Amino acid sequence: MADKQIATPSKAHLRGSRFVYIAALFASLGGLLFGYDTGVISGALIFIKREFGLTTTAEEIVVSGVLLGATMGAIVGGKAADLFGRRRVLLVTAAIFGIGALASAAAPSPPMLIVSRVFLGLAIGLASTNVPVYLSEVAPPHARGWIVSLFQLAVTVGIVVAYLTDYAFAGVEGWRWMLGLAVAPAIVFGTGMFFLPETPRWLIRGGQHEVAHGVLVRIRQLTDVNVEIEEIKASLAQQPESGRWTDLLHRQVRPALVVGIGLAIFQQITGINTVIYYAPKILQAAGFNSASGAILATAGVGIVNVGMTIIAMFLVDRAGRRPLLLAGITGMIVTLGVLGLSFRISNPSEQLAWIAVICLMGYVASFAISLGPIFWLLIAEIYPLRIRGLAEGTAATFNWGSNLIVSLTFLTLVEKLGASSTFLLYASFSVTSWLFAYYLVPETKGRTLEEIEASWRARHRVRQTASPIS
Ligand code: BGC
Repeated sequence: MADKQIATPSKAHLRGSRFVYIAALFASLGGLLFGYDTGVISGALIFIKREFGLTTTAEEIVVSGVLLGATMGAIVGGKAADLFGRRRVLLVTAAIFGIGALASAAAPSPPMLIVSRVFLGLAIGLASTNVPVYLSEVAPPHARGWIVSLFQLAVTVGIVVAYLTDYAFAGVEGWRWMLGLAVAPAIVFGTGMFFLPETPRWLIRGGQHEVAHGVLVRIRQLTDVNVEIEEIKASLAQQPESGRWTDLLHRQVRPALVVGIGLAIFQQITGINTVIYYAPKILQAAGFNSASGAILATAGVGIVNVGMTIIAMFLVDRAGRRPLLLAGITGMIVTLGVLGLSFRISNPSEQLAWIAVICLMGYVASFAISLGPIFWLLIAEIYPLRIRGLAEGTAATFNWGSNLIVSLTFLTLVEKLGASSTFLLYASFSVTSWLFAYYLVPETKGRTLEEIEASWRARHRVRQTASPIS
């Protein structure tokens, strides 16, 4: 079973200052853009389809282009962050977000729109690999859970803002406005990152101890930050990794890699984006007669997502990661199960429509206190510093790849298997993910990143002693 012991909580010398919170707010704008740019297409698509006369396949490509780009961005994003630094990569990310938004809004033809959306996707992939790592490396340990979860909160807020923007511009069929407005937060994000410092951990990793010292003094508002610097250096000295791809397969890293990739896949194959991208369609299939009623209920689902993420942020440093994860996935199993069975025993009706609304809200609420924030949090804290970007990027790549597969197959699955079996399939994946979390995911609450690294190493040593030839 996973190591659940909790190490020494925060130390006085690691208390954060207000600066950390400001830094976290700006950096998490990358999450807002991720949520906005993935969520906005649901409402814009109707008008894009009308203007360009898209076929269903072209429609699917427009929707999933951004996911393809994000997968590519995640592949390169982690390695780039280790090589060039978290901050520099985030500056480039902001530029791609801005250019991608304007290019999509101005696209004169479907191919140009698809190319722009793939380009924009690169920024989403880069943000998803770098923002959580940036946040985890500047946060003090006692507040790291909620600071990194700001990223997920920003994603959920971005989704709701996208839904509302779609709603606001629907009257004038303004899809170009819907896509283009994302340039505004991109500018704020880029400006913020320009003034924010590189993370002290990346600087120490590159031997820039003086600069790291200055940054730590600034973000902790303490004159003596030597203890933290020494801890980071000592932890680095114990890491045999050199930052190459092959390091990911190193025995000591493998268990953490399995946890990250496993959670990445489970976060998606339990079906969250079938709801985020297709909720109006699900509700209409259940018997919602009016399209606007379905859209309104979808906005409700988005708001529940934001609200429960805030509750998760409040609980994550108190209750810990594992209890939230296990409780939330249990909720996902129950709500998906009820939804699947209701579609089986009832024909589309007003009653089924209401059951669907309640189940979708309960499902999203359960996701929002578990796999939503905790996946991004854990993959930013469980890897050794030398390969943190690379390993986080690998997990993010699996996440985007799985998202792409689920989004591309959902409508076909509903057509071939029916809504009931499709949701029961996601429920069965949720059962597997509960078992995965129960047996393999460690508790990281209150530990410094260096203590977390040390606990993987200790486990590795124990295993080696137990079976020296394995
Ligand atoms: C997931 C996204 C999802 C979002 C919904 C994120 O954690 O990675 O795929 O759309 O949560 O809130």
